[in-house]
Amino acid sequence: MSEISKAMDRARREQGRDGWSAGMSEPGRIVSPSRPLRFSAGEAEQYMALASDVALALPNLETRVLLFASAVSGEGTSTVAREFASTVAERGESSTLLIDANLRRPSVHEVFRVRRDPGLTDHILGGADLEDCLRDSGTPRLSILPSGRPVIAPPRVAGDERIGTLLSGFRGRFRFVVIDAPPILAYSESIQLSGHCDGVVVVVRAGHTRRQLPARALDLLDEAGASTLGTVLNRRRFYIPQFVYDRI
Ligand SMILES: Nc1ncnc2c1ncn2[C@@H]1O[C@H](COP(=O)(O)OP(=O)(O)O)[C@@H](O)[C@H]1O
Ligand SMILES: [Mg+2]
Repeated sequence: MSEISKAMDRARREQGRDGWSAGMSEPGRIVSPSRPLRFSAGEAEQYMALASDVALALPNLETRVLLFASAVSGEGTSTVAREFASTVAERGESSTLLIDANLRRPSVHEVFRVRRDPGLTDHILGGADLEDCLRDSGTPRLSILPSGRPVIAPPRVAGDERIGTLLSGFRGRFRFVVIDAPPILAYSESIQLSGHCDGVVVVVRAGHTRRQLPARALDLLDEAGASTLGTVLNRRRFYIPQFVYDRI
């Protein structure tokens, strides 16, 4: 077998293995940001393509409140949420807010090197002034709401009725509100928050996670009545150029 047909074969097998959309509810476009921290033009384009899929799935909304979550941790939720938010803000010229709602393992403040508190928990539980909780990210048009002080019971924050008020207050103010949320199968917060969001994007690490896990996460979202927009396949590897892949 020639090297090319071997690569094609492998690509076909991979595509089958990574074909998360099969059997899932309303799968979205599968994107593959493979190098998260520094974009090549191609990756920014993939995030822009994801943004247009989101806009198509949620037409006629001035503000789109999106929850990014995965079944288990380490799939790349924070990376994909952050890069999506940065790309639509910078390249898509959309005013965007990135909220760190992973109160278990917050990371947004570290990556953007901003103070962690006051933030989400301080506003919801402690009544901290919202404007004091919002940070400039350094990226044009991208604001950040960091997680805030650690709390003993994150579900109390996610389940607080003030979350709804907070998110509605962002409507009209930002074009995208991107929520970096904790793993769906491990904790209840993503499901709790999903009720306030226009759509949920499920992040799956390609070729790594047993497909039963994201499938179970999608079931839980369905049962909760969330609007799941689709899955993003993170860290997908291409054995042949992507344009060939797309044709097989
Ligand atoms: N596309 C990618 N390419 C390379 N490394 C990635 C990619 N996505 C995530 N990572 C790395 O994997 C680790 C887990 O990602 P993270 O976004 O923190 O996952 P989660 O928020 O789901 O726990 C981090 O070290 C991150 O830098
Ligand atoms: Mg994370």
